[in-house]
Amino acid sequence: MTALEIIRIILVILHFVGLASLLGGFLVQVKAIGAGRGTVVPAMVHGALTQLVTGLLLVGVIEMGDLYDTDNIKVAVKLLVAVVITVLVFVYRKKAPAPSWALWAIGGLTLLNVIVAVAWR
Ligand code: HEM
Repeated sequence: MTALEIIRIILVILHFVGLASLLGGFLVQVKAIGAGRGTVVPAMVHGALTQLVTGLLLVGVIEMGDLYDTDNIKVAVKLLVAVVITVLVFVYRKKAPAPSWALWAIGGLTLLNVIVAVAWR
């Protein structure tokens, strides 16, 4: 196993930790969102940033090590969705309550990126 392959595995693991933080942060807020008291919790902010950083590094490592062919359109869609999520968490981070639509969008777009990640072949 090459060094780049090991780095890719570590980055994939961190990519899952970021996903857990982002989606978990949303899920613990669902009841509060329903009551109109939902907020952007720090786990969402950290998760969104983790996804952006580890995702971009993954693409770099895969290209650099020629590990396999990445689908550029798939990566571009994931990047765009992740940027929208990141903007939403930063804009509404200090608002209590945050608008319900923004919180549902954060959770929904996160799920969308999971679907894109696993179903786009
Ligand atoms: C909310 C944001 C994101 C979520 C929820 C997410 C989710 C996932 C998931 C679940 C996987 C594993 C798929 C599998 O192994 O079959 C994955 C892999 C990957 N993601 Fe993301 N992702 C996000 C953002 C990004 C971004 C912004 C990029 C790059 C610009 C990116 C690039 C990648 C790459 C290259 C892989 C493949 C890793 C590998 O198997 O080597 N992701 N993502």
